[in-house]
Amino acid sequence: MAETGVFEKYRAYLDVPAHTKNITLLEGSTPLIPVPRLAQELGGGFELYVKFEGMNPTGSFKDRGMTVAIGEAAGRGARAAICASTGNTAASAAAYAARAGMRCVVLIPQGKVAAGKLAGAIAYGAQVLQIDGSFDDALALVVEISQRHPIALVNSLNPYRLEGQKTAAFELVDRLGDAPDWLCLPVGNAGNITAYWMGFRQYREVKSSGLPRILGVQAEGSAPLVLGHAVDHPETVATAIRIGRPARGEQALQAAEESQGRIIAVSDQAILDMQRRLAQEGIWVEPASAAGLAGLAHSLSRKEIDLRGKQVAAVCTGHGLKDPDLIASRMSAPAVLPAELAALEDAILSAQAKPFEGQAE
Ligand code: F0G
Repeated sequence: MAETGVFEKYRAYLDVPAHTKNITLLEGSTPLIPVPRLAQELGGGFELYVKFEGMNPTGSFKDRGMTVAIGEAAGRGARAAICASTGNTAASAAAYAARAGMRCVVLIPQGKVAAGKLAGAIAYGAQVLQIDGSFDDALALVVEISQRHPIALVNSLNPYRLEGQKTAAFELVDRLGDAPDWLCLPVGNAGNITAYWMGFRQYREVKSSGLPRILGVQAEGSAPLVLGHAVDHPETVATAIRIGRPARGEQALQAAEESQGRIIAVSDQAILDMQRRLAQEGIWVEPASAAGLAGLAHSLSRKEIDLRGKQVAAVCTGHGLKDPDLIASRMSAPAVLPAELAALEDAILSAQAKPFEGQAE
């Protein structure tokens, strides 16, 4: 566990008002996990790391930005916060608002938020409201209401969210000694890709570190930045990035262009395949979080990028525990046995799964 949260750790680099409070759950300092076997499978010849942001206190990268956004709001005396969310922002806002002693209201698209996120927001004591509409509809509503009432908007339209989220880029440079050659990550409302690019550019100024090329990845059914127009009815199994009108879309496109990277889309099947593949490394992420690596695999298989001798960091944004129903519904349910040794023996020895012997590990 980190000794300090991201606000205290990177205070000198954050552009926030002096009144900002340190409302922290010791977020950040997440593991950067080498995955050489996966790199080998994808063609080899490069170094691959997973920045596992699901290890933040509420299980997603949102905590980095939320500590700063809630800290700023609390510091200027705000009594309440509001956000629209596909789930992770909701859980994070609820937790940090609770910590600050503030009221929290979250607006989510009905039936499209994974169980672990909804449960989190409720457990942390937020007022959770579902709307019969999309995330994009919810965002438009919370923007309007925050203009009419003294309630702090903590979606990534709030600049302090990005100030906090850019610390992930600082951590990568601090840990690797320089920026990776490529960074791949999922793109939904496009706050995170914007924040990473801000962070890397800032560190280049103050630390003379390099800049990565950025590969942003959307789901095929929710790919406004690839299609070049808004998507009215976005769909994808990766509900976290089921967004048709990204609030920071322009900045995301700019980050991809300036970094000589790109934004691409991958199928739901490719996302689920990569989720499963990561689990074979012991890294269980929610579907959206596998999109960045699915995009990397896609680009490599089409020879659209050449990674020989390069260093690649893949951001895995949220924990698999967020979306347990997906696993239950797509994988076979565990067998139920009588409580007898013979039945156990039979089940283990007849299974098609890995034998006991001949395993490398
Ligand atoms: N991955 C996860 C797990 C997310 O929850 C999100 C966004 C993203 C990636 C995309 O990040 O929006 O900055 O491009 N979730 C938001 C939410 C929309 O409400 O929790 P982005």
